[in-house]
Formats: sequence, structure tokens, C-alpha cells
Amino acid sequence: MEKRSDIETGAALPSGPTKKETPMRETQVRESYAVETRDLTMLFGKFKALDKLNLRIQRGIIYGLLGPNGAGKTTAIKIACGLLTPTGGQAFVLGTKVPNRSILPQIGYMPQETALYVELSVHQNMELFGELYGMTPKKIAEKEDELLRFVALEKWKHSPVANLSGGMRHRTSLACSMIHEPRILLLDEPTVGVDPELRSAFWQYFTALKQSGVTIIITTHYMDEAQHCDKIGLVRQGRLIADGTPLEITKETKTTNLEDAFLALSRGQETS
Ligand SMILES: Nc1ncnc2c1ncn2[C@@H]1O[C@H](COP(=O)(O)OP(=O)(O)O)[C@@H](O)[C@H]1O
Ligand SMILES: [Mg+2]
Repeated sequence: MEKRSDIETGAALPSGPTKKETPMRETQVRESYAVETRDLTMLFGKFKALDKLNLRIQRGIIYGLLGPNGAGKTTAIKIACGLLTPTGGQAFVLGTKVPNRSILPQIGYMPQETALYVELSVHQNMELFGELYGMTPKKIAEKEDELLRFVALEKWKHSPVANLSGGMRHRTSLACSMIHEPRILLLDEPTVGVDPELRSAFWQYFTALKQSGVTIIITTHYMDEAQHCDKIGLVRQGRLIADGTPLEITKETKTTNLEDAFLALSRGQETS
């Protein structure tokens, strides 16, 4: 069983990405956004998973992409990671139009379905991810130890992933997504199936990461998680139906919680 008392969030914060800022050129005005999409559209056959989605996500914040299952959240994240090419519109990550290989080192991606090699150990998985990003063995070792402290998995370093609990696999996946010190983390439902205690610890990790300068974009269908986000975007049927701070959205809709706000906005769309 996993020892939850191991979780000492904030005790060992990972260092943020090494700052390698280049002077901003006139043409890179869009770089002020971590992610920007313009009429982003994704068709799967005749089905429109994204329908002119327009997002503007500032850097250095925690942004929550909220919406029910099937709203298009994963599709949007996959486009930002360069795993899917949109059928319409454009997406920019740190000012670079995606898909583009050159931006990949800046992005950390934790997929909705944990993608780890279960027969390999935590250490071997992390090493593999580091190597994929062209990191030196020395750098991987340094970063790995720091991240394993951060996700409280040092004792499990040499255990096969197959032997880990679901929560520990999630933490391994999170650590793997951060090995290369990305400037943006795209986390697709990182807290689904995670018990409340660990969920709370995860949010502490994310807040600590934000403080180290990383932009974090999280998808979730748990409306209550929005309270941890600086800003949120509510997505429905591939469209952004509201965007702002949780307080702004509830105020605008004259509701007291985001679930009611979402319903009010959905009703408004249907009658308009
Ligand atoms: N590769 C695909 N082929 C066909 N339909 C897809 C594909 N990927 C996603 N979809 C559909 O697109 C819609 C949006 O999916 P997704 O982005 O996964 O939503 P969410 O992450 O918000 O649950 C869903 O109706 C889903 O079934
Ligand atoms: Mg999804």
C-alpha cells in the first residue's frame, strides 16, 4: 500500500525551467500567451469535436479547461501538443504555430490515459522520457531525484510501474511529464480516479510549479476543481462558452457555483 504520509508537498519543489528568453521580436507578439487558439476546429469525419474554439491563456497561470465528457478538451490538448493537426483554424504555443517539433521541449504532457511502460521501473521510465528529450544522463539523474522527491516516490524508484498503485502511477506520469523542465504543462484530467487526499496534494504540486514560473493547463470535468485555477474556460460541444476567473463567471451568470453557471450558460446557448 502506498504511504500517504510520504507526501510532503512543497518540501522539495522542482526548479522551474531554465530561463532562456530570447528578445521578443515584433512578429512574436503572440508569445505573450502560453496558448492561443483561433477558430480552432477539429473534424473527425463529419463530427465536429472542436467548433471554432478561441482560447487565450496567459503565461504563468493555472488555467482549467472545464467541460463535460465529449466537450473537446482532450482534442484541444492533443492539438497543443502537436499530436493532432487541426482541420481548421490555428493553435499557437508560446507564439509558435503548432504542430511544430521545435516547441516540443517546452511542453510537458500528461495524457488522460497514463502512458508508462509498466514492465519498466519508475527510474527506467523517467530515464526513457529524459532520453527522448535529448537530455544527458547526468542531467536526467539530477532532475529525476528532484522530481521523485517532489512526488514522494523516492522509495519506489526501482519498482516496476506494474507494482504501483493507481495514484503512484499518476505521480510517476506527472514526474515523467516534467523531466525536461517544460515551460508549459498540459495535464489531461490528472486528478480523475485520484482519491481526495492525493488530489489535494496534486493541487499543491501544481501551485508550487506555477510559483516556479510554469504555465499549467489542466482539463477536468470536476467543476469543484475550478476553485484552484486562476482562470477557467468552460467548453461545451467544442466551443468556449465562458472564460475568466471562477468569480467572474459566477458573477456574470448570477450563480453561486460553476456547475450552475455552466447550466445557465448552456441554457442561454440553446435559447439563443
Ligand atoms: N479520433 C477520434 N475519432 C472520432 N471521434 C473522436 C476522436 N477523438 C475524439 N472524438 C470525439 O470527439 C468528441 C470530443 O472528444 P474529447 O476531445 O476526447 O472530449 P473530452 O476530452 O472533453 O471528453 C467526443 O465526442 C469524441 O467521441
Ligand atoms: Mg478527455
